[in-house]
Amino acid sequence: MIPSLAERLKTETRSLHTAAERSHFMGALMRGEVDRAAYCALLRNLSAIYGALEPALVRHAGHPLIAPLHAPALFRATALARDLGRLQGPRWAEDMALKDATRQYVARLHELDARRPALLVAHAYVRYLGDLSGGQMLRRVVARNPALGGEQGVAFYDFGDPLATRALTESFRAGLASLAPDVSEADALVAEARRAFGLHQQLFEELTEEIP
Ligand code: HEM
Repeated sequence: MIPSLAERLKTETRSLHTAAERSHFMGALMRGEVDRAAYCALLRNLSAIYGALEPALVRHAGHPLIAPLHAPALFRATALARDLGRLQGPRWAEDMALKDATRQYVARLHELDARRPALLVAHAYVRYLGDLSGGQMLRRVVARNPALGGEQGVAFYDFGDPLATRALTESFRAGLASLAPDVSEADALVAEARRAFGLHQQLFEELTEEIP
């Protein structure tokens, strides 16, 4: 039987996911070894990625591959701005430079927005299912670390109470399961998800220099 897009995304990005989890930056974050400045650098770069992804998803909300996944409750840009405002101060956007990987990532998202909106699905998959899964583990790490904002600094990971978070996850997975791209489109989506993981890996490597 031909595997579904959701199965392909999971299995064909598994090794890249393992590499992301094992990256020095993510490992240090999970162990509580990342200080406030380095954590803000991560959030600042993620905010630029969501800042490009989310308006593009809104612009293409009627696209047949994007419509089933469209859920503004998933959007993270506002929550990131709140965490950054608290942790870094009101000038967070001006004060913190973006990494090269983020610039490339944002350029890629703009390109897809203009020319291949269907491939935005791969980025929604990588970011939102990541936030709804591993992100919930990171939430606990941040919540117990006052230097990262503690309980007041977890807006980024907050999708509502556990029931609401599970409902959003299930509805995103149902949306993904309902997509029926043809084989070449599915190939392109898997390749784009792999590219998204690759850009994350590059970002985590660049962020390593921020760890004290
Ligand atoms: C410390 C870092 C991380 C941990 C501990 C972690 C942990 C997890 C866990 C436990 C799951 C659930 C697996 C399942 O339901 O079968 C998951 C899923 C996922 N994670 Fe992560 N993760 C981390 C980093 C990341 C990063 C950096 C990304 C994206 C760049 C990411 C993207 C995803 C995606 C897309 C899924 C859904 C896989 C699928 O079911 O198709 N994760 N993660």
